[in-house]
Amino acid sequence: MKPNTLLDLLGDHRVHSGESLAQQLGVSRTAVWKQIRKVVAEGIEVRTIRGQGYQLVTALDLLDQHKITDNLVKVDSADVDLVVLKEVDSTNAEVARKLSAPGLAMPVVLADAQTEGRGRRGRNWSSPKGQNLYMSMGLTLRGGFEGLSGLSLVLGVAVVRALNVLGVKGAGLKWPNDLYAGGKKFGGILVEIQGELQEGQVQVIAGLGINVHMTEAADVDQPWTSLARHWPDQVWVRNEIAASVINEVASVMTQFRNGGFSAFRDEWQRHDIFLGKALCAKDGTLAGVGAGVDSGGNYQLDTEAGRVSVMAGDISLRESV
Ligand code: BTN
Repeated sequence: MKPNTLLDLLGDHRVHSGESLAQQLGVSRTAVWKQIRKVVAEGIEVRTIRGQGYQLVTALDLLDQHKITDNLVKVDSADVDLVVLKEVDSTNAEVARKLSAPGLAMPVVLADAQTEGRGRRGRNWSSPKGQNLYMSMGLTLRGGFEGLSGLSLVLGVAVVRALNVLGVKGAGLKWPNDLYAGGKKFGGILVEIQGELQEGQVQVIAGLGINVHMTEAADVDQPWTSLARHWPDQVWVRNEIAASVINEVASVMTQFRNGGFSAFRDEWQRHDIFLGKALCAKDGTLAGVGAGVDSGGNYQLDTEAGRVSVMAGDISLRESV
């Protein structure tokens, strides 16, 4: 008996008696019970109602490689080496392993869960099973390391566009590559440089984490939200989000490879959650007002001493006094 067969039956969110499940699946009630225990152990919440049966609690939104491929409209599926895993240490690490033996197609790895999901600045990335999107893409660019300037911001633009295509307006970008809605973070992008190949070609891994259905996150130490929380009227399907992101990343990368960040600057700025806000940077030693990004993608602050560009580190809202 395949777990998905049981999940298919429970997928209508009605109460199913053990007997009817056993009958429909052609197995014993004990086998049904064992199967229920297995899916629960995998993180899927199933309620047992005494005397009545079982009911699925968790919204079922299974990743499916074919459904993602079917929704690729801006890139030829032959140009994408798509892998969907049940569990991995980190999708970025998995893409790094694939890039060490590069093929012609762009590697894209998605996983239902990550055991060592990583965020920026050495932080962990909370990666509970089946609830969010964890995906990484291997990108090869020409022009050496200087050619990467602004890349992570452009990827943020791609994600906002991908959400727009799915009908969502109002997603914000927090420099350099956090995704925000209603003042809370719902996603982040981690760009890791894998190495430089011959002739100035650079391999980069772009990892994207988006909170989709997540309702609890004890290990997240900042205000967070998810797509389903912030936009509850929308039906969120991880396969559709993944395909939309791949479409938009493929599209922005063509433009970025030809013209760099400048063509995206205005668009990035339209989503800048820091614009005009009182901010501090450089571990609190620099205070100013958010003034958008410069042509290299560095964040600008209007300070008492004039306009200053911040190249790295965290920028945060200044508490009003
Ligand atoms: C951040 O700190 O905001 C960046 C988070 C990036 C998380 C994603 S999840 C998929 C990919 N694999 C990882 O280990 N990290 C990135």
